[in-house]
Amino acid sequence: MMDGANTPATAPVLILLGPPGAGKGTQARMLEETFGLVQLSTGDLLRAAVAAGTEAGQRAKAVMEAGELVSDDIVIAILRDRLAEADCAKGVILDGFPRTTVQAEALDGLLSESGQKINAAVSLEVDDAAMVTRISGRYTCGACGEGYHDSFKQPAKAGTCDKCGGTEFKRRADDNAETVAARLEAYHAQTAPLIDYYAAQHALIGIDAMGEIEDIAGKLAAIVKTATA
Ligand code: AP5
Repeated sequence: MMDGANTPATAPVLILLGPPGAGKGTQARMLEETFGLVQLSTGDLLRAAVAAGTEAGQRAKAVMEAGELVSDDIVIAILRDRLAEADCAKGVILDGFPRTTVQAEALDGLLSESGQKINAAVSLEVDDAAMVTRISGRYTCGACGEGYHDSFKQPAKAGTCDKCGGTEFKRRADDNAETVAARLEAYHAQTAPLIDYYAAQHALIGIDAMGEIEDIAGKLAAIVKTATA
């Protein structure tokens, strides 16, 4: 039995790679609904730890506010614990993890202990300049977390969440121009090398993620169907 992961050998494991604002969270939530997979966002897990005031959260808070990467030991421990929960047996979409080679190697180790491997690592290919626009217009429903954008995706009824009817919305503390620049820099320096890492494993699939959200979702759905067939 592996130390942490709970997914059986047949459960799909998909990775979404891409810079801040590439659409990882948007697409992971859509895949979760369509395929019944579990979205594992280390950003969401870390924000929950910060809000709960855990030791890991306290260590992560300032790092996240600066737009830098939280240390590998904290993130790997959080991810390992979440993977051990029963719902992950359905299969997972990793959103924002791994982000360094150390994290990628740790994930390979966790999966290999249960005879699993990654089905596909999908790289969402986007322009840096567009990412600043996407991130600065982003907001989410305070009740259910559904994502919206000032220009690209507004609720059908202004001020009311399409998904749960909530009327409170929030914006992330790290979604400002200065922090976004630091986050993009961290992506290119520490995460982009994973494109070669997964290419070497023959797991990498790159897709143009500059189009409409629904079109990108269609491409991803086709990839998931093929990768998990
Ligand atoms: P995290 O929460 O993972 O943030 P991120 O990677 O910066 O990614 P984002 O959530 O900003 O973007 P996204 O790609 O999910 O885009 P979204 O779908 O929301 O990490 C935050 C911090 O936590 C990090 O900086 C780091 O400190 C720490 N951290 C997390 N994981 C870590 C790890 N593994 N190791 C170390 N540290 C870690 O879309 C953005 C907006 O654009 C939305 O409004 C959306 O509606 C809109 N949109 C999406 N797609 C499109 C489209 N095709 N066209 C137009 N608009 C679109």
